[in-house]
Amino acid sequence: MWKYLLVLGLSFAADPIAPHWPNTFTQTFNETFWSPSYGKQVTNGTYYYDWTTQNTRVDRANGRFDPMCGLNGFKILVNSPCTLYTVGGNRYIYYPDDPYCCWCCSDQTHCGSLYPTWMDNGTFLGTTTKNGVPAYWWNKEGSQPNYYYETAATDPSKRVMLGIFEVPSDEKNFNSNIVYSVPNGIFNLPSICVPSNVCPEASICTQLREAGNKTTSDH
Ligand SMILES: *[C@@H]1O[C@H](CO)[C@@H](O)[C@H](O)[C@H]1NC(C)=O
Ligand SMILES: *[C@@H]1O[C@H](CO)[C@@H](O)[C@H](O)[C@H]1NC(C)=O
Ligand SMILES: *[C@@H]1O[C@H](CO)[C@@H](O)[C@H](O)[C@H]1NC(C)=O
Ligand SMILES: *[C@@H]1O[C@H](CO)[C@@H](O)[C@H](O)[C@H]1NC(C)=O
Repeated sequence: MWKYLLVLGLSFAADPIAPHWPNTFTQTFNETFWSPSYGKQVTNGTYYYDWTTQNTRVDRANGRFDPMCGLNGFKILVNSPCTLYTVGGNRYIYYPDDPYCCWCCSDQTHCGSLYPTWMDNGTFLGTTTKNGVPAYWWNKEGSQPNYYYETAATDPSKRVMLGIFEVPSDEKNFNSNIVYSVPNGIFNLPSICVPSNVCPEASICTQLREAGNKTTSDH
């Protein structure tokens, strides 16, 4: 009887409110890539986000397997640290060891920072365990499923992002020790990051710019 009531209760319970990112945060992550050609690869990185300036910076210890850092002209499949800057509406790819920087695309072609509400209209898939803690599990369908995991709490501002899985090939697991600030100057662009230095033709950036232009002209 209790079991029955419990099931009934759960099935009528409303889904949690959609995830909502804090305006400003820093979070480290581990990232796993899978591909038929290179198998499983792991790197780590740091995500800096500030919606008050709409800037984002993603540092990876090794950018080789990230499509933006790793499919980019003469940087194709090179092992090297890589930073993606999304600053002032422009996306730059920066390789600090070389150093080399190129302009990839802009918020005119879907290369801006994510909105804090980007998970709105996502599908709640239930409660699960992620990195050993109880978690909400969501999907935001894009060209493929994007699973999103966060700590479980009624109030979205009390939750912490735990993972993003771009099914089936790219999973980030975030450290739950979130910091609600970004280091001073973290979005200051290196002087070699300028819009006139466009990323090489053989780059995912070229596709992104063309896809964006197509979308724009379609509307
Ligand atoms: C990757 O992990 C190492 C070891 O913890 C750390 O020193 C480094 O800062 C991390 N790299 C990034 C880009 O977060
Ligand atoms: C959610 O859906 C509403 C209604 O279709 C739409 O206006 C809004 O842009 C969507 N938000 C996101 C983040 O997809
Ligand atoms: C990342 O990997 C390191 C080394 O294996 C581990 O100590 C750390 O807990 C991992 N962090 C996350 C967020 O998974
Ligand atoms: C897309 O449009 C922008 C703005 O009109 C233009 O600068 C850019 O060269 C175009 N990109 C491609 C790949 O056609």
